Amino acid sequence: MKILVTGANGLLGQKLVTKLINQPQHQLLATGRGVWRGEDLPGLQYQSLDIEDRQAVLDLLQKERPGTIIHAAAMTQVDLCETERGACQRANVDAVKHLCEACQTLGIYLVHVSTDFIFDGEGGPYDEAAQPKPISVYGHSKWEGEKVVMQLEHPWCIIRTGLVYGVTYRMSRTNIVLWAHQSLKENKEIRVVDDQFRSPTLAEDLAEACIAAAEKQPCGVFHISGPEIMSVFDMVQRIAAFFGLSIETLSQTDSSSLNQPAKRPPRTGLVIEKAKKELGYAPHKLEEGLAIVQEQMRSIAQQSL
Ligand SMILES: NC(=O)c1ccc[n+]([C@@H]2O[C@H](COP(=O)([O-])OP(=O)(O)OC[C@H]3O[C@@H](n4cnc5c(N)ncnc54)[C@H](OP(=O)(O)O)[C@@H]3O)[C@@H](O)[C@H]2O)c1
Repeated sequence: MKILVTGANGLLGQKLVTKLINQPQHQLLATGRGVWRGEDLPGLQYQSLDIEDRQAVLDLLQKERPGTIIHAAAMTQVDLCETERGACQRANVDAVKHLCEACQTLGIYLVHVSTDFIFDGEGGPYDEAAQPKPISVYGHSKWEGEKVVMQLEHPWCIIRTGLVYGVTYRMSRTNIVLWAHQSLKENKEIRVVDDQFRSPTLAEDLAEACIAAAEKQPCGVFHISGPEIMSVFDMVQRIAAFFGLSIETLSQTDSSSLNQPAKRPPRTGLVIEKAKKELGYAPHKLEEGLAIVQEQMRSIAQQSL
């Protein structure tokens, strides 16, 4: 099957590319904003695509006619979305409309990636039937995007995930694992919230789930995350223990003292039973995921010597 990936330069996008390029049963077309910024991969088909450009989206999809789109592109910086509302709307809602228009016309199966931030965090962990109630501009935009996908008459799938971690080449954004590892290694003072609960997700697991959805083509919503729920503070303690780092410079705090522009849902966490049953989803526990990240960090460091 021909699979087109959007947002290929992002964390999930790069994981999808490195997995799909090694699967001869699939033909991969990676797309992203600007040039390809991942590792050099012989034979990679990459096309620059700004998903906010409706005509460019329609033209490329008309020309390439993929069987499936895995839509990994989004404006993901939660605080930036709060202050740059127009940009957030264009990337997370309008662009989804462009993709859905093409999927509807050309009969393309869509795997759309969404977030646990569509919930208010008062009643987690959440299953797929829980009622969304976003409390940030980012959360609202992702829920609006989901509603656009749900209108499709052609089969679609929405994969909601949370707190994704991993490492790739030339990352455009950091994530909790890399930030905590780097900060503690440099003995930097860090304050981490103990009143936000999440189920951290290894980027590889999320990519596997997206590919499983592309292959099985179910219709509906799936929750995809790691198998454990923990506070962000507990997570950082476990990261420190795994990498053998001192926690002398780590202190706990609460969300109100951070003064971030966007509100965060206090307690999310996702129930993943449906994905285990229907997609064969088998996620890694945190320390298993960290072992994978550690190995990749070593290999990236060696390659950049
Ligand atoms: N990371 C998390 O903790 C998390 C949690 C829950 C849900 N999600 C969801 O998971 C999905 C993947 O996120 P991620 O973690 O891979 O985020 P990411 O690393 O920030 O990647 C997002 C990618 O989207 C690209 N993009 C943004 N606007 C675009 C546009 N107009 N045209 C083309 N590409 C565009 C970005 O391009 P540039 O690189 O050029 O900026 C970036 O490469 C998103 O739907 C996100 O909402 C992520």
